[in-house]
Amino acid sequence: MEKLTSHIISGSKSFTENTKAFEVLMEEYRTRLGAVLQRDSEKPVIRHRERGKLTARERIDHLIDPHTSFLEFSALAANGQYDDGFPSAGIITGIGLIRDIETVIIANDATVKGGTYVKETIKKHIRALEIALANNLPAVFLVDSGGVFLPEQINVFPDRDHFGRIFYLQSQLSSKQIPQVAIVMGSCTAGGAYIPAMSDESIIVRNQGTIFLGGPPLVKAATGEDVSAEDLGGGHVHTSVSGVADHLAEDDLDALRICRDIFSTLTPPKKHQVRMAEDVSPAYDPYELYGIVPARQTRQMEMYEVIARVVDGSKFQEFKANYGKTLITGFASIHGYTVGIVANNGILFPESALKGTHFIELCNYRKIPLVFFQNITGFMIGKDYEHKGIAKEGAKMVHAVATSNVPKITVIVGGSYGAGNYAMAGRAYDPDFLFMWPNARIAVMGGTQAANVLSTVKVQQMQASGKPVDIEELDKFKKEITDRYDLESSAYFSTSRLWDDGIIDPADTRDVLGMAISAALCKKVKDPQPGVFRF
Ligand code: COA
Repeated sequence: MEKLTSHIISGSKSFTENTKAFEVLMEEYRTRLGAVLQRDSEKPVIRHRERGKLTARERIDHLIDPHTSFLEFSALAANGQYDDGFPSAGIITGIGLIRDIETVIIANDATVKGGTYVKETIKKHIRALEIALANNLPAVFLVDSGGVFLPEQINVFPDRDHFGRIFYLQSQLSSKQIPQVAIVMGSCTAGGAYIPAMSDESIIVRNQGTIFLGGPPLVKAATGEDVSAEDLGGGHVHTSVSGVADHLAEDDLDALRICRDIFSTLTPPKKHQVRMAEDVSPAYDPYELYGIVPARQTRQMEMYEVIARVVDGSKFQEFKANYGKTLITGFASIHGYTVGIVANNGILFPESALKGTHFIELCNYRKIPLVFFQNITGFMIGKDYEHKGIAKEGAKMVHAVATSNVPKITVIVGGSYGAGNYAMAGRAYDPDFLFMWPNARIAVMGGTQAANVLSTVKVQQMQASGKPVDIEELDKFKKEITDRYDLESSAYFSTSRLWDDGIIDPADTRDVLGMAISAALCKKVKDPQPGVFRF
């Protein structure tokens, strides 16, 4: 494989300007992240610790293998919503190693409204279960939750992907022989009681964990019976009377130790084998990515420069280098794993779409994971291209992405607009993981374009009804649309609503991809099925 040559001059005016602008973005990113990670002085956290409990993130730290990293998902879920009253949506999810087995961990944060579930909490919990199901990964639930956040019941109870879906997915995991372990470390009430009840093994902490379908106040109201939480469904009751839980732990640390013991009896999932290369750092500094992201969105991002700072040794074996050049395709390795890379280097033309289709098929036939670097404003439009059938060439790539059987991971490094999002494995195309950089933007089209489309329609309406066109009103209307699109297309707006699996520091891209690829290789890679491409 050839080493990519970087053409970046790190002292140049544009590199310096870009770096400065990116540092501003990173400052915002660190501030937002800091607000959800450093909450030690907040009252609920102090009270939680006074009760002898570890925080959700501390529990995870003690559960995973020492000196290993936790790939956390969507730390900024619910950010900017509910007056920021649900940091990380009140639930921590991610992948960590337990006794050398990649495991999906789902931990309620009881310091956030008693660990109760709003819409984003459920979406995050379900997404983590779907990752476990798709990738054949065991799951551990660290339960400490008051169930649904009752004032939000219309957003959490009735629909398909609401609270009930959790237990549906737990049944699906079970039917696929994917191990599940629950540790009840606090409240586990109402429907939530099914979490330990549907797990393979469950642990409960003495004088701390409780499991019941209806808590003491509900029992009193329904039957008049007076009973304490401990007598109704505490650790002793469930491990020696009801049998709902299997192990009684003395405290959080003891419970986590028992869980690790359980994992020492599990057979690790068989991994799909890809050719491994030497795990070497890129030849160029990943922090230079800050200076490669253009400060001005109108400038093109140099995607070879991005690839050179993510892949091992900056080595890249390009496929069809001279054809359809606005899409870069080729092979590389990331932390030793051979991958196929599909990266935008401009708008998608018919040739680039065909090249993408061809390359995705190649990776499927060779069973090589795909990594998409998205920075796409869309497909080329206009008479010439419609006449050339851009719609059918684009459809081939969309089809290839949708029916691809190999692990696929998407990183939105710039814009993600229009049908380009589909062809480049956007969320609707079920990538195993999808991450965004802090500068990333996602929307059906840019704000200016949307404002122009809508104002053109408005002018036509005015003219049809014989009204004079009011320029001032039109400008105000355009500004409203642009402002709204600006806000709604930001990476924070997206991650808050779980349209992705989290915002990452560009300099961490290689490490995040390495962990994601390693986890995704636990999935069963099926033989490719020929698709219907309208060649
Ligand atoms: N819906 C909405 N808010 C809830 C809630 C629920 N189900 N359960 C707790 N809260 C809120 C509390 O009002 C409180 O809000 P505040 O900080 O604005 O005052 C916050 O969560 C913490 O609750 P608190 O009772 O002070 O904390 P705790 O750690 O002592 O107890 C629970 C936590 C979850 C054990 C306890 O609040 C409880 O039993 N809640 C009811 C659970 C329930 O019956 N759920 C059924 C849902 S299907």
